[in-house]
Amino acid sequence: MNIIDYCEHILFCPKVEDKLLSPSEVICFKRKVGRPIPNMPARDSQYKFSEKRAKFPKAGSLQDDKNKALALHFFANHELLAIEMMAGAIIKFAYTVNAVEFKKISIGIFSAIKDEQKHFKLYQSRFNELGLKFGDVPVNDFFWRYFDELKSFEDFFSIMSLTFEAANLDFAYYYAGVFRSIGDDKTANILDIIYKDELKHVQLGAFWVKNLSDKETLWSAYMNSLPEGITPARSKGISFNLDHRKKAGLPVCFIEELSRFEDNFRITNRRK
Ligand SMILES: [Fe+2]
Ligand SMILES: [Fe+2]
Repeated sequence: MNIIDYCEHILFCPKVEDKLLSPSEVICFKRKVGRPIPNMPARDSQYKFSEKRAKFPKAGSLQDDKNKALALHFFANHELLAIEMMAGAIIKFAYTVNAVEFKKISIGIFSAIKDEQKHFKLYQSRFNELGLKFGDVPVNDFFWRYFDELKSFEDFFSIMSLTFEAANLDFAYYYAGVFRSIGDDKTANILDIIYKDELKHVQLGAFWVKNLSDKETLWSAYMNSLPEGITPARSKGISFNLDHRKKAGLPVCFIEELSRFEDNFRITNRRK
């Protein structure tokens, strides 16, 4: 299968199984012009983006299996959104770089897609055990809302890897601790896996943002690429921790800028 066909399959086919098609199906990394990116990824009616808002459960309520399943359902939708965004970026920006760079970038994104698919399945099997099916709760279009504004792979990696996935380092670490503290090692172990994979994804993004940009530092390249309405504050999750960024290999000066950066964004008010 050609890489662009694979990415189109993810975006234009509506079933969850379509989004989980293994990247190992791809044997040809030669780019070609793909179909125009849809306004929204195709999704079957039971898990279409919804205006209805489910409320994310409070950390203190997660001993309750219902709330636990609900939290994992949220996380699983974010995994699916990441898969769709990644596939969309490969199609949309295929001709913004040269063919050699395209191949390297898409191989990197592919390994991330494979991880996101694994994460989705881990969450899904856990909330299934707890009595919830995917789509039982309304899902949001959180990451996808920004896709249209992205103009290059630098933009994509800045928002996806250096912002959303970086914030997820804090979140995954934090919730692993919460689940462990209530005796749920099974769920905590899933979050440990996600945390470790996310370190690689953040590193991948940092590499390409720096390498594709003509700016002198990763920080200036990052600031230059973030879309309107998104600031570095968004890359900080609950219990913002510099050590996670160090482990991901982010440069010391980038981490210093990030820890200094403050604006009026609050974790409790994360909606666009
Ligand atoms: Fe993930
Ligand atoms: Fe990721």
